[in-house]
Amino acid sequence: MKILLIGSGAREHALAWKIRQSSITDELWIWPGSPTMSAHGKRLDIGGDARWADVARLAKNQDFDFVVVGPEQPLEEGFADSCQDLGLPCFGPLQSAARLESSKAFSKDVMAAAGIPTAAFFVVKGEAECRAKAMECLERTQGVVIKASGLAAGKGVFVCFDKASIEDACQRLYYSGMAKAAETVVIEEVLKGRECSFFVFMGEGTPTPLGFAVDHKRLKDGDEGPNTGGMGCYTPVPWLPENAGDQVMAKVVEPLIRELSKRGMKYTGCLYVGLMWNDEGFAVVEFNARLGDPEAEVLAVHDKRDWTKLIAMKLGLLPEDKNFLADAKKNSGATVCVVLASSCYPFGEAATGRYVVPKAEFLNEDKSLCAFAAAVRLENDELVTGKGRMLTIVSHAENVTEARRKSYDHIDRLTKDWVGVQFRRDIGSHMEKLTK
Ligand code: AMP
Ligand code: GLY
Repeated sequence: MKILLIGSGAREHALAWKIRQSSITDELWIWPGSPTMSAHGKRLDIGGDARWADVARLAKNQDFDFVVVGPEQPLEEGFADSCQDLGLPCFGPLQSAARLESSKAFSKDVMAAAGIPTAAFFVVKGEAECRAKAMECLERTQGVVIKASGLAAGKGVFVCFDKASIEDACQRLYYSGMAKAAETVVIEEVLKGRECSFFVFMGEGTPTPLGFAVDHKRLKDGDEGPNTGGMGCYTPVPWLPENAGDQVMAKVVEPLIRELSKRGMKYTGCLYVGLMWNDEGFAVVEFNARLGDPEAEVLAVHDKRDWTKLIAMKLGLLPEDKNFLADAKKNSGATVCVVLASSCYPFGEAATGRYVVPKAEFLNEDKSLCAFAAAVRLENDELVTGKGRMLTIVSHAENVTEARRKSYDHIDRLTKDWVGVQFRRDIGSHMEKLTK
């Protein structure tokens, strides 16, 4: 099959690596792509500033069998709708269903209507109502979460335990370039517990769970420092109850599909379910309309199944093979990934260390130790690091302790002379069970 992959980060690098391994992948093309993704596919010949409708038309004219979308932005901007209009199968939801991520107000409304467990909430408009409602909630509870409803690049959520932090959240929401995303705001109760995410491929036939992963969102060890896009993760999640996957399918995914169907919507693509677990059970924190980054990197390495075939089934291009569900049991051991970020991440425009990453780092022939690149560019035939999350190092081993050791041994060698890199040392180190 001839496949187009949209995106350019480490998540898409991992997807390109994974899609390329399939016996049904004849040609993989990428857009906008990255120097390291080029090892797996050719770049679509269209300018970086092309409109989504033009990318879809070119893909249709060049006889692609289907498109896979990595990031949320093209989905929010209606890329899947352009594909649908042209009759080009797209693995990624239509704009209306992608609102599960791009509108928290919509997502909470769907959860409430479907009876999906989630934090109690209010939807408010404008700064005055936001402040008043948050203050009022704080009187009755110990804390409130204030969330910009629109996409805010992970910066629009504030967990507040006092009046001063509510004030601070209002300042940031309404006066620091986020006002559009914060036109509507969701105010909700603080959930207690431990977070993890669950991923499901959806479309034709029965949804196929990929599994759970735990992301470490704070910048520093011990969950200190500012929130980031994710500094590393592990899969599977040993502290969850054994039937956790069945519970999430029955209490979240199935009611969600029924509710969307009532509203005339169908979800095709990967659904990301953000969850909070405690000893009493779980609640949904958020939905995203895509794979996570870096969750995609651990799952792509851990899951031995052929994702290209799975995606083709979800698009109705291959008949459904129910063995894919049972085959998940063949996945064994544990997979851990650690993100190497520039020292200014997640803020800072300041120039940081410029480091040349050996090309051999990205060969990824040993499928149990892989490197996927985000902020790495090609300069005079050398791969040079930039700002932000730069590399994700993924290791698979018999257990999480071994996988951690393998990742960190590799990282210690790689970063020996690397100035301007930061990473967490404690990814995957908290494995104790939830129950007291
Ligand atoms: P969201 O974008 O909705 O996932 O929120 C980002 C992060 O804020 C989550 O990953 C949680 O760590 C935290 N968060 C969001 N909602 C809540 C909540 N109701 N209770 C506690 N923490 C939350
Ligand atoms: N790693 C969190 C996310 O992709 O949203």
